[in-house]
Amino acid sequence: MKAKKLIEVALPIKEISAESVRDKSIRHGHISTLHLWWARRPLPVCRAIVFASLVPDPLDENCPDAFKYAVEMLLNTGLGKLHYKPYKDIPYTSIVDEMEDNHRNRLMMFIGKFSETCQANMIAGKSTPPKDQLDDWSLIKWENKNNPQILRIARELIFVAYQGDKRPDATWEELDAEFAKLYEAIPKAEKILYELKDRHIETEKVKQLEAELQAAIDAFQNEMPSVFDPFAGGGAIPLEAARLGCRSYGNDINPVAHIIERGSAEFPQKYGKPIIYSKEEFEKLYGKVGEEMAKETDRGITFDGKTYRIPNRLAFDVEFYAKKILAETEKEVGYLYPVDEKGNKPIAYYWARTAKCSNPACGAEVPMMKSFYLANTPKKKIYLNPEIESNKISFSLSKGKYYIKEWNHRGNMTCPCCGNVTSIDIIKRQSREEGLKMRLMAIINDGDNGKEYALPTKEQQRLIYSEVPQQERPKELLPLKYIQAFPVCSWGFEHWGDIFSDRQIYMLHTWLSKYYELTESISNNDYGRTVLTYLGIWIDRIAIANTSFGVYHTGREKLERILGRQSISMTFDFPESNPFCGKSGSAENQLDWIIRYLESENKNEFSAIFANASSGDKLQFDRKTLTAVVTDPPYYDAIGYADCSDFFYVWMKRTLGNLYPMNFATPQTPKSEECTAIKHHQDNEEKARKHFEKKLTEIFDAIEAQTSEVVSIMYAHQSTQAWTTLCNSILDARMNITGSWPMDTEMQGALKTDMAFLESSVTVACRPSERKGYADFDEVKHDIRQLVKAEVEKLYGLGFRGADLLTACFGQAVSVFGHYKLVETAEGDPVSVGQLLEFARESAAQALLEGVPGEPQTKFYCGWLQMNGMSECDFDDVNKYTRVGVNVEIRSLQSDKLLITEGSKQHLATAEEHVGSNQSWGTQPTDYMISQVHRMMLAYRGGNQVLLLKLVRELCPQSDAPQWRVLDFLGGHLPEGKDLTDIKGILASAEMLRQKCKETAIPKVGTLDFEE
Ligand SMILES: C[S@@+](CC[C@H](N)C(=O)[O-])C[C@H]1O[C@@H](n2cnc3c(N)ncnc32)[C@H](O)[C@@H]1O
Repeated sequence: MKAKKLIEVALPIKEISAESVRDKSIRHGHISTLHLWWARRPLPVCRAIVFASLVPDPLDENCPDAFKYAVEMLLNTGLGKLHYKPYKDIPYTSIVDEMEDNHRNRLMMFIGKFSETCQANMIAGKSTPPKDQLDDWSLIKWENKNNPQILRIARELIFVAYQGDKRPDATWEELDAEFAKLYEAIPKAEKILYELKDRHIETEKVKQLEAELQAAIDAFQNEMPSVFDPFAGGGAIPLEAARLGCRSYGNDINPVAHIIERGSAEFPQKYGKPIIYSKEEFEKLYGKVGEEMAKETDRGITFDGKTYRIPNRLAFDVEFYAKKILAETEKEVGYLYPVDEKGNKPIAYYWARTAKCSNPACGAEVPMMKSFYLANTPKKKIYLNPEIESNKISFSLSKGKYYIKEWNHRGNMTCPCCGNVTSIDIIKRQSREEGLKMRLMAIINDGDNGKEYALPTKEQQRLIYSEVPQQERPKELLPLKYIQAFPVCSWGFEHWGDIFSDRQIYMLHTWLSKYYELTESISNNDYGRTVLTYLGIWIDRIAIANTSFGVYHTGREKLERILGRQSISMTFDFPESNPFCGKSGSAENQLDWIIRYLESENKNEFSAIFANASSGDKLQFDRKTLTAVVTDPPYYDAIGYADCSDFFYVWMKRTLGNLYPMNFATPQTPKSEECTAIKHHQDNEEKARKHFEKKLTEIFDAIEAQTSEVVSIMYAHQSTQAWTTLCNSILDARMNITGSWPMDTEMQGALKTDMAFLESSVTVACRPSERKGYADFDEVKHDIRQLVKAEVEKLYGLGFRGADLLTACFGQAVSVFGHYKLVETAEGDPVSVGQLLEFARESAAQALLEGVPGEPQTKFYCGWLQMNGMSECDFDDVNKYTRVGVNVEIRSLQSDKLLITEGSKQHLATAEEHVGSNQSWGTQPTDYMISQVHRMMLAYRGGNQVLLLKLVRELCPQSDAPQWRVLDFLGGHLPEGKDLTDIKGILASAEMLRQKCKETAIPKVGTLDFEE
């Protein structure tokens, strides 16, 4: 019998969460900045899950000795002895508890460990800046992605784990020596190849050295495990598996994702390497422009009079050719982006679509900005001040707050000239039938003190409005039936080419023509195609920054591209960036992101292997030849990847279609085989659900046959329906869940727009399983209740809350269920996974409720809320609360205003209804807990910080005070509304409130800076 993998037993989820949340704000050199893709997983969680899926639990009795030795030698001697020492006192628990110094815990600390400073801060209840939270020696820390020492340890541990499984008799000494021999052969072969002058010329010698390097890489990787991601998306998981030295495979059905994956985890690792040119060759290839580029110090290029040494050939070539295209395009269309009177290049233009007043006697063309502000920050307010003359509207620029009545009310327009109201339906018709005109409202410049705004000069207007040669607009269809994500379609925008202005289309076509001219001069070999691929990626980036549907955030003075939230809404006013300004949003800036990525991911010698295919092909890998699968399947119907990515497909087909004819053979991205539950692809919701489940089962089925160890699946959807489908597919593919871990992977509040997502994602580890036979649901329920209760307590202690906490228990429940062929009710009916998960959610909520402190009144409130929500119920239903074991008189609940009676109906009191009419309720420690919490909510709502701080100080100054638990409970159960908003606000500021209480005995009057 083999040992369990670490992921089935333990994982440092707090540490992984901390670094994963940080990862979302890392920009320069991060994989997500190469090209937009949706729902990317943070790199730390991917690296941790891949690693933990490959190494055994060293405390398992079946763990190979060689691996135990490896942990001892690599993590418990020399520097490792100090750095990976488990915590003296686990910092995120409220008790003093030493973490045992054993091999499992050392492995955990290797994956991620809080720094000394962070440990001390956590214990003292203080915060630590994200970048200082993890110890510098943690495998998953961003700064360590190219750290040779740490990567070598990780790779060797994986090597020994893999070899130890295959050859249980091999000793650590033997494996250590084998590893060193194979591993060290790679840099030796690299050095010889990269020291060869003019290796761009494909001589026999070059070919031979390239083959030798490839042979060294293969020899090493043949002895390493293989990891597969069947839903590779932006490529984060394969990138991390390759970083850990594994043979890393990734599939994606989507051609755009496929190109992004190769651009992220194949090409930089293969081609982003040093090159030495003789002076003659360099000059021949790059001429004067190249010489100038070589002098710029930030590229690290050296020239000794005879040879140029370039640290990253690929980054240099991409930059060189992109700049060539940029210069030529600007020469042709730059006049359309004129400088201002001082000669400055604007950074963006602010446009508004106009609607025609439906009053025939007026007919004013009214610009439909959603507000008049151009800048609306606490320190800076600038707005367009309208001046009306008959049916003409002109504008001047003013500073400060405005009190002008706005005329765009959610798309209905009150004409500022005649007062007539033109309804949104009429404006929609205008848009569909004739198209709405666009008016240039302002020019945005980058000044010494931030953004500056100006009205367009006459000359700028003349040039910007000048007629441009008409170009063919991409005629590929927008997803017309996908109205919830693409409401823009109902406004008459039907083709992908419709979302650009004339000048944007002309500019993009010019870019394409310069790109085509260049392709003639670039070698048609793998390297040449790679360079062109990045130029295609670059053109995508330029296109998405130049549509007429971006948004200008006046509060932050920032431009937001379309599709960031996987949708396109109708926008009346939009910013257009100047591709030639050289600043933020420009083509040069877009290039910069690509170059930074190439420079940051070129150190790794292992590239991943990608297939642009629908997963589930049983012939793709031989039986049990993959060691592990680590993946992140689509979240049911949350994102229409194929529909959204058509934006890029349209442009990539034109730039890269000839380079990758097979990938771009279809008119638009393939939709029918996409493994999502998107309604309009399958006619209706039921068919969409079935399609998703069928595809997922097919894919898991193939994986089960192809994988010898664990299958780790990350999932971030909170609906029971989405989880039911996922779990059904796992069970139908004859696997069972053997480990389940929630981890925070999103920034708090970042996903507010899409409530389908959790702030954490749950990773389940699965294995093929033998089903034991039949079971009685009542017995199974008992086991599930126990497991879920323990899980809730553990996760609550680790800081998981609300829906995330309830969902995190699904894995435990399914693991019990999956032992049996069939689970039956007492009546002999089969229990479905859906029923099981509902039961698991209920058990989790119940367990949470058991922990709800306080007197029966508070327990009643929480229990009732959990069962009935805030909606009205019949009197008899009140009896249901006995289910949660509270003992309280209904009449007293009514007189205490916890239960509001209207006729024969009852509903639970809101905070206002409960304590709103009696100012003293909830202010004393002896009051009901629920009253105290409601009082805090009303204090927060009224902005009464003095009272709120007083309440926190007197009632709940410690993070483990029961009031916080009640707040958490309510936060997980209340429906959207004022009460929930207050709770979210208080919880988001909880740390700060407690801190302030400690700092100031007497609070000062002022406003608290609550997070939104
Ligand atoms: C949640 S995303 C993966 C994101 C990825 N982990 C990352 O970090 O970027 C799911 C991916 O599955 C892909 N997909 C959907 N159906 C598929 C299928 N039948 N075969 C292969 N890939 C598929 C989608 O195109 C999408 O890129």
